Amino acid sequence: MEERLTCIGIESTAHTFGISVVKHPPFEALCDVRRVYRPSSGGIHPSEAAKHHLQNASNALQEVLSKISVEDIDLVSFSRGPGLGPCLRVGAALARMIAIKLGKPLVGVNHAAAHVEIARALTKAANPIVLYVSGGNTQVIHPSEGRYVVLGETEDIAVGNLIDAFARKADLGFPGGPRVMELASKSSRLIRLPYSVKGMNVSFSGMLTMLESLVGKEPVEDLCFSLQETAFSMLIEVSERAMAMLGLNEFIIAGGVGANRRLREMAGEMCRERKAVFLDYPVEYYADNGVMIAWEGIVQYRLGESLNVEESVVKPRWRLSDVKAPPPGLYSN
Ligand code: ATP
Ligand code: FE2
Repeated sequence: MEERLTCIGIESTAHTFGISVVKHPPFEALCDVRRVYRPSSGGIHPSEAAKHHLQNASNALQEVLSKISVEDIDLVSFSRGPGLGPCLRVGAALARMIAIKLGKPLVGVNHAAAHVEIARALTKAANPIVLYVSGGNTQVIHPSEGRYVVLGETEDIAVGNLIDAFARKADLGFPGGPRVMELASKSSRLIRLPYSVKGMNVSFSGMLTMLESLVGKEPVEDLCFSLQETAFSMLIEVSERAMAMLGLNEFIIAGGVGANRRLREMAGEMCRERKAVFLDYPVEYYADNGVMIAWEGIVQYRLGESLNVEESVVKPRWRLSDVKAPPPGLYSN
């Protein structure tokens, strides 16, 4: 068994400023502090979100320090990218300060890999297909042989972006996901929308254009229902294709859109039909959080990654395919 490590992790890529402490083995989240930025109007304004994170950094850290003792911390991790530059820099600065103060290693982690790895850790999935769905990403992924193979992705906008842009047009606030889910549950009338799947890729911009043109003309509940049924069917179809192609029978979802009950229900149905398993986990870990960053800090440190403070600049466009993946099952306990 590996040496026990305790990592403090900081998330600050976009709307959420989160700090958490995770211990392993066995996996345990000792605390999970989150401060979520809500834009006054429209979507995320990067400089406003960064200001929010800066204003909350010290009170969030104080809350963490009231729950754990600093002597237990072995390493410090932060979301190095991808994300919004001004937001990333707030988390990175705090992480550098903590690492210097405690004299502990600093690990810069990839936010997308952290979503995937928290899902793998919490479900103990050995060899899954992962559907990563969030505000900025829509990908079908297979973690294998030390890397993340992206089998399919969106050809234009992410599914979370589809939901948020539609919600903005329909005046449902930001983020759109929770409100769209609630309204969708009040309808069962399907309006035909563009269904665009090419192999294992999807495209949502045609659907967004049509939905936007129907705002005010069709009941909003029906639009929310139709968006969910159509977009999620596309996502489940490409995920199923990936499972069939690689002959895999475990399926997990990562990222904020995974908080959607209907998407997880459809995932369960698809898996039951093909005698596979959909592995679910507590809903609060789908959205951005510090726990996944602390956990990914431990994973990457064990893979030999760490940074000198001088070289720890953020990477707003860091791609998942350039990140090392841990071998299947190694960190499952
Ligand atoms: P990433 O860098 O991973 O793209 P992100 O900034 O999009 O991160 P996440 O918390 O991973 O952050 O995902 C946020 C997205 O999840 C938003 O688009 C939001 O509308 C969506 N979302 C949240 N809850 C739900 C829900 N219940 N149903 C559908 N979508 C949801
Ligand atoms: Fe995210």
